[in-house]
Amino acid sequence: MLNAHFPAGSIFSVHIFLIPYLCHMSEMRKVIVTGGTGYIGSHTVVELQRAGYEVVVLDNLSNSERSVLEGITAITGVQPAFLQIDICDRQALTDVLLMHQDAVGVIHFAAFKAVGESVEDPLAYYANNVGGMISLLQVMSVLNMDNLIFSSSCTVYGQPEVLPVTEDAPIQPAQSPYGNTKQICEEMLQDAAAAGLFHRVISLRYFNPVGADPSGLIGELPIGIPANLMPYITQTAAGLRDELKVFGGDYATLDGTAVRDYIHVSDLAAAHRIALERLIEKRHATAFETFNIGTGKGSTVLEVIHAFEQMTGVSLNYRIVDRRPGDVEQVWADTSRANQVLGWTAQRTLEDMAASAWKWEKRRVESKE
Ligand SMILES: NC(=O)c1ccc[n+]([C@@H]2O[C@H](COP(=O)([O-])OP(=O)(O)OC[C@H]3O[C@@H](n4cnc5c(N)ncnc54)[C@H](O)[C@@H]3O)[C@@H](O)[C@H]2O)c1
Repeated sequence: MLNAHFPAGSIFSVHIFLIPYLCHMSEMRKVIVTGGTGYIGSHTVVELQRAGYEVVVLDNLSNSERSVLEGITAITGVQPAFLQIDICDRQALTDVLLMHQDAVGVIHFAAFKAVGESVEDPLAYYANNVGGMISLLQVMSVLNMDNLIFSSSCTVYGQPEVLPVTEDAPIQPAQSPYGNTKQICEEMLQDAAAAGLFHRVISLRYFNPVGADPSGLIGELPIGIPANLMPYITQTAAGLRDELKVFGGDYATLDGTAVRDYIHVSDLAAAHRIALERLIEKRHATAFETFNIGTGKGSTVLEVIHAFEQMTGVSLNYRIVDRRPGDVEQVWADTSRANQVLGWTAQRTLEDMAASAWKWEKRRVESKE
């Protein structure tokens, strides 16, 4: 053993001891994750690290906390590299990506995501979501970086005429500035791919991500009053909200409440890794591809509430109120393309989503006590 030739603790022994480790590190494939301390980003970092990737997180912490990194480290045993930067700052982004030009791909989550807020402050949404995307695409293109995964949304379909909705369904006029930013970004990606600036780009159209890592160590961190169902349910169950309002009880659905395709965030995270591997291995069919990421099954709001109550034994104080303007009646995904072409299928049930979201909420409440 070479190490034995040097006095214990000498600089030589340390270096030689580190060589196999450093070689292993250099073989690890590096992935850049923008928005990696956010809800979906953090779960994707866990998925990537578990699969052996070296992850570099870029986030400006505008909607997340540095402590998320501790959760990721506790789950995986590996602390991801973290750089606090705003991706709209092109110079800062160039400096960072220059350092990590050897990355095998970029997964782009960084964006604002609150529909209501986007109606009140549309320019902030266009500046951050569209501006951030332009900045990222320009820097990646100059540095000859390829293999990009983009966070899109089923909002691009509006209320589809045919259900389940396929990726070929017509894109509807956006219902909000937020939705419009997703459509504009997809168009930019398509144009950039057609111009030959990128050869491998995948847009994942998420349905309704819910739940948390089963450890309860990372999860969704809604700021203020949650706009989405599951965090509202868990906050009501935890006593942080008096009542859960169910918007609309007169839709043409099974029980009159709106239908969505809820997808466990860990399943969604797996879809990102699998999509990235499709690009790394050059198995893509066209330069720009889109995939629906859902379970393929719609659930009404009342079904989600009852699944939560059954799974946790907590009874929820809910009330059906008027419909909320802008909400579509029902949407769920045709996931055939993701299942057959991408080779990804959602694994987790509504009960898994409820149980993990509740575990995360209880942990947060306990940590504040
Ligand atoms: N959560 C959903 O229901 C949902 C549904 C469809 C699509 N999406 C999209 O998925 C992506 C991730 O969503 P999420 O739920 O994890 O949101 P999130 O707010 O939890 O995470 C986004 C992260 O990006 C960071 N960020 C925002 N702007 C930035 C900037 N300019 N520079 C650097 N960092 C920045 C935030 O600090 C945050 O950590 C977003 O693009 C969102 O639009 C989310």
